[in-house]
Amino acid sequence: MGRFAYLMEGNLTRNGIKGGKLTLLNRVCQSFQRLLTTAVREIDIAGQTLKIHALGEVYDSLTGRAFTGSWIWDSALLLSRWLATSQFDLRDKSVIELGAGAGLPGLTAALLGASRVLLTDIAPLLPGLVKNVEANELEDRVEVRELVWGSEESLSRIGELRRFDVVLLSDVFFDLEEMAALGRTLKKVSGNKTRILAASEVRFWTGECLNELVSQGFKVVEVPIQEDGSDGGRDIFAVYNIIPPDEEDCHNNMSGSIIRR
Ligand SMILES: C[S@@+](CC[C@H](N)C(=O)[O-])C[C@H]1O[C@@H](n2cnc3c(N)ncnc32)[C@H](O)[C@@H]1O
Repeated sequence: MGRFAYLMEGNLTRNGIKGGKLTLLNRVCQSFQRLLTTAVREIDIAGQTLKIHALGEVYDSLTGRAFTGSWIWDSALLLSRWLATSQFDLRDKSVIELGAGAGLPGLTAALLGASRVLLTDIAPLLPGLVKNVEANELEDRVEVRELVWGSEESLSRIGELRRFDVVLLSDVFFDLEEMAALGRTLKKVSGNKTRILAASEVRFWTGECLNELVSQGFKVVEVPIQEDGSDGGRDIFAVYNIIPPDEEDCHNNMSGSIIRR
């Protein structure tokens, strides 16, 4: 869905929403998107099945366009598959997903043994996330909260959960203007032992997005993914290990680096 959705959205702005009035073309696009995206997808994860409702009906009332989190992006499929097939151990870990959309990677983490998962996104996408938690009967381990990047107010609401073992990001290196806020939120939810894993379609501005995190002291290391094409093609998608600056580095405002393996 990712590449199609990107073509449909064109030049995205804040929160992935493009400005402009609701046109006939928009309405036609909406109907087409709805047809393509409202089905429940069944996704096999390590011998179990996750049911994910793509949230095709979640539209911004001002612009008439669907929120970007309305679809399951290819990066989410990649990150889930990577979590299920790598040696990465999620058992008993606390996990937060930022910009979760339909929540596939976070729900995957719960299936793979994470003790607590927090799925977060902007408010209009939360009912869909709750629906996906319930569809998989994971309410005992998975919570859904609003978390707008850079917002102290929404962070304070999840204050006691600060510093997770694992942070998951899927296709959030999207809007360069949002990256400074994303970096600030990443620092708030991460300690120096936190593993931050991010899957992304590699677009021509992805490097610039990562550089914003690097300028905040994060290191970015590309993780090897399967070369057989089943991950969608190595040149198009990537998984990154984003290493948070440790406490001391935060205070020294140290610069990080992008290391490609
Ligand atoms: C391209 S979509 C990816 C959705 C999902 N992670 C996936 O891969 O299927 C980008 C996601 O980031 C979220 N997002 C963008 N800006 C945000 C912000 N400032 N605060 C919180 N979430 C944001 C969007 O709502 C959307 O769910």
